[in-house]
Amino acid sequence: MTTLTFTARKTERIAEQKTSCLVLPLFEGRVLNDELTAVDNACDGMITRSLALGDFSGKSGTKAELTGSAQAKRILLVGCGDSASFDQQAQRKFAATAAKAMAAGKYSDALVSIASLPLDGSDATDLLEMLARQLCLATYVYTETLSKPKDLPALKKVTVNPGSLVSSAKAKTHLAMGQAVGNGANFTRQLVNLPGNVCTPSYLATQARALAKRHSKVSTTVLDEKKMKELGMGSLLSVGNGSDEPSKLIVMEYKGGKAKEAPYALVGKGITFDTGGISLKPGPKMDEMKFDMGGAGAVFGTLQAVADMGLPINVVGVVAAAENMPSGRATKPGDVVTSMSGKTIEILNTDAEGRLVLCDALTYVGRYKPREVVDIATLTGAIIVALGNHASGIFANDDALAQDLVAAGNRADDRAWQLPVWQDYQKQLDSPFADVANIGVGGGNAGSITAACFLARFTEEYRWAHMDIAGTAFSSSPKGATGRPVALLVDYLRQRAGQ
Ligand code: BES
Ligand code: MN
Ligand code: ZN
Repeated sequence: MTTLTFTARKTERIAEQKTSCLVLPLFEGRVLNDELTAVDNACDGMITRSLALGDFSGKSGTKAELTGSAQAKRILLVGCGDSASFDQQAQRKFAATAAKAMAAGKYSDALVSIASLPLDGSDATDLLEMLARQLCLATYVYTETLSKPKDLPALKKVTVNPGSLVSSAKAKTHLAMGQAVGNGANFTRQLVNLPGNVCTPSYLATQARALAKRHSKVSTTVLDEKKMKELGMGSLLSVGNGSDEPSKLIVMEYKGGKAKEAPYALVGKGITFDTGGISLKPGPKMDEMKFDMGGAGAVFGTLQAVADMGLPINVVGVVAAAENMPSGRATKPGDVVTSMSGKTIEILNTDAEGRLVLCDALTYVGRYKPREVVDIATLTGAIIVALGNHASGIFANDDALAQDLVAAGNRADDRAWQLPVWQDYQKQLDSPFADVANIGVGGGNAGSITAACFLARFTEEYRWAHMDIAGTAFSSSPKGATGRPVALLVDYLRQRAGQ
């Protein structure tokens, strides 16, 4: 993976800076501010002439690349729309448009000036974070299983001129924060994009050990099937029964806070491939079920970002990893298993396997006496019916926690929406043969809520929220992992860390 280098350097003489590409914001109306005028003069009126031709209007989301001067070889103008309405949405659009254009460029370094933008200090730091994050995301290319590598982005080094909006030191700090989020999301994307024959539960365990090697404050423990059997994790283990790949419970501990401080817990669904098991899924698009470890991927990416940022809190990440396959040894509909909590579960549908691995991981994480627990899972197709690809679903036994996650999603531009976990839905999970059934009666009715209701039965001991990311973790066209909801989770943890 390519890594970008970010620097912040304040300059009042932008036209004299040497760079392969000078990136400048431009509002609609063809008015050149002092900065644009100086650059225009340095390149013999190229900007004025281009605007006069009507080639570029400055509309939000558009850009134009011009040949520059001896100092700035290229000039990339990025549209900012109407200067009177440069709100948060327009600022984010500027960052995304600039990042995509730079990532597509044929140059290795670029200089971005945000000095002329009408921003206050906090808008400016947000914009810097967004710019760095978007640059990381835009330069990610999947090459792992291709025999001929694709063209990699040329961009290596990005310098930002913050002008007098914020100090260079502060700008650099926030660029680094945005980069940590972007790199974290890219780590998630990479794991989630890998095919099921590469990214197995054992592969995820190897990645967890590698993360601990990269970060002194992270340590990893992997529980194998023997250990899980001793702990009574009959529910988690039932999912991998039909697979030749051994299931793993992967525990990653980040210690950025005081040794005895209770951790925040993230629990990820890590189904490295979901065939549905004996309740076999239909063939079309089944390949997309390699993305069914998106929750686990988000735990990895978030932990890496938190460690990169050095947040002063403790975080424990637990990944419940298994492969859901049909075979002569696979779990059958009607089978009853005993979970680590002691509760028995009637497995009416082996395709509702995510909740089966999560319930034991959620019971296990209780031993850390966590402050809060958030599980992340590509849990139900029904959440795509409810929210499409725009928002992750949030369910919680604590409304304040749910709303804090929604707020984090809004701040991070990685949105989520709360749905209820009312008692009224719980009776759909009643079973005559076990304490609880793994699917609700009434078929697909409120399928995402009954899934959350199932999990709620295993999370009564602590403050808990569940995120259903089946609609947000990956996209079907173009096919690939999005890295969501790493940005939301990192924002939530930063908020908890007081940063
Ligand atoms: N991994 C799927 C959910 C899913 C569907 C994720 C589409 C991403 C895209 C999950 O294990 C599953 O199969 N859920 C079932 C539950 C049902 C059997 C109650 C579903 O959504 O159909
Ligand atoms: Mn399934
Ligand atoms: Zn699944």
